[in-house]
Amino acid sequence: MIIVAKDGSGAFSTIQAAIDALPADPREGDRKVFVRKGIYHERVIVNKEGACLVGEDAAETILTWSSFALELHPDGTERTTFRSWTLMVNAADVTVENLTIRNDAGDGREVGQAVAVYAAGDRGLWRGCRMIAHQDTLYCGPLRIPDVVADLGDRQGTAEQVPLVQDGHPSHSRQYFERCYIEGDVDFIFGSYRCWFEGCDLFMGERGGWYTAANTHASQPYGFVFHRCRLSGNCPEGQAYLGRPWRAGSATLFLRCDMDAHVAPEGFTDWDETRGVTDRYGEWETTGVRADLSPRNAHEKRLTPEEAGAITLPSVLGGEDGWQPAAPGPDYALMAEQLRAFAAEEGWFASLLSNASALIYDQLPNLNWAGFYLVRGEDLVLGPFQGKPACIRIPRGKGVCGAAWAEGRTLVVPDVHQFPGHIACDSASRAEIVLPLRQEDRIVGVLDIDSPVQDRFSPEDAAGLELLVDALQQSLQ
Ligand code: SME
Repeated sequence: MIIVAKDGSGAFSTIQAAIDALPADPREGDRKVFVRKGIYHERVIVNKEGACLVGEDAAETILTWSSFALELHPDGTERTTFRSWTLMVNAADVTVENLTIRNDAGDGREVGQAVAVYAAGDRGLWRGCRMIAHQDTLYCGPLRIPDVVADLGDRQGTAEQVPLVQDGHPSHSRQYFERCYIEGDVDFIFGSYRCWFEGCDLFMGERGGWYTAANTHASQPYGFVFHRCRLSGNCPEGQAYLGRPWRAGSATLFLRCDMDAHVAPEGFTDWDETRGVTDRYGEWETTGVRADLSPRNAHEKRLTPEEAGAITLPSVLGGEDGWQPAAPGPDYALMAEQLRAFAAEEGWFASLLSNASALIYDQLPNLNWAGFYLVRGEDLVLGPFQGKPACIRIPRGKGVCGAAWAEGRTLVVPDVHQFPGHIACDSASRAEIVLPLRQEDRIVGVLDIDSPVQDRFSPEDAAGLELLVDALQQSLQ
């Protein structure tokens, strides 16, 4: 691990110097650069495959620069959007974690676009980062519009040689954003890449504008997919649009996102007459103040549960190489501690199992149901849970739940369609895990968790969930 520290206590005092010190060959050397708290005034390009840039604390490890589109190079040409970034990643398999990246150039009405993050390269992974700017905060991938590229190419002879991105086919242009805070106003998440945003906070600044301006190629099945994200802001009510198609036929989906009053009731808007909203724009299970989809743009797609269930991390980002962004597992030991703390306060089974369902549903990514069935006579009967209303009674031996009870063991089902007798309460469910819950030696119920993602539950998940069940069993006695 290479340490960067402003105060000279690390190997380097600038982030760029540490990146430059990484060997070019991704198999060589430690790829991790750890950045201590501090404000780093620099513009950084990460051009080393497999590099991993980690900040000590997201809020206090700040990378900032203030370039902007209307800025003039010494030869009088404009910098343009595409060279205004504070941080550019231009290599495959780069991870950036716990870092604030800002572009402090200011209001786009004065300075034009001012990009904080240019995320190029394939299989990019962003966790817990804060990306803050105004117009055009997060640029996800180059346009590949030949005339635009040629136009920018003409300007390469300018005094400041900021490289242009040379990258591959659009299907090799994927980025995964997890728990990031992204703030801006006009078109602030934009570009051509296939991107999955998991549990991110999207914050619309005072000016209002569009959360997204996708530039998806027609050859790509997906553009931007937002899953369980929160959309808020401080612009006037109704002044934040979900997106507009920068290129005709672009694609943007919001799945299970929470939208407050800043979001415009009409949702998506056309860019112009030739670039209108199509059924590549859509929503599923929106929650919050703007959960009512009736005033939305008539062309946006309302996904069915089957369609939404097919939009998964593997289907969106998997590509030809089967890439699975390695999300770190939830901290099951910590969750078990939380359950013990709940139980210490209130041991009544309804309170404890309700909070256990909520904790699991909140902490584990990609679930559509989590809860308990409790033994009553010869049946399992629905107990506290999170998710859609579910079937109430399951006889012993029936379905995955009844089988786990009868067999007295944890059952992990990678694909419920292949499990004989599976009971489909929510048609979005694809994978399931069921763990028996015991009091003394008797099974008193089961913990049942469903996911819309095939193969969702790993042996690590099974072991971690057993820790939670142990904590509950101790408390229920
Ligand atoms: N699929 C379960 C039924 C319960 S729901 O998943 C909530 C089963 O086959 O037992």
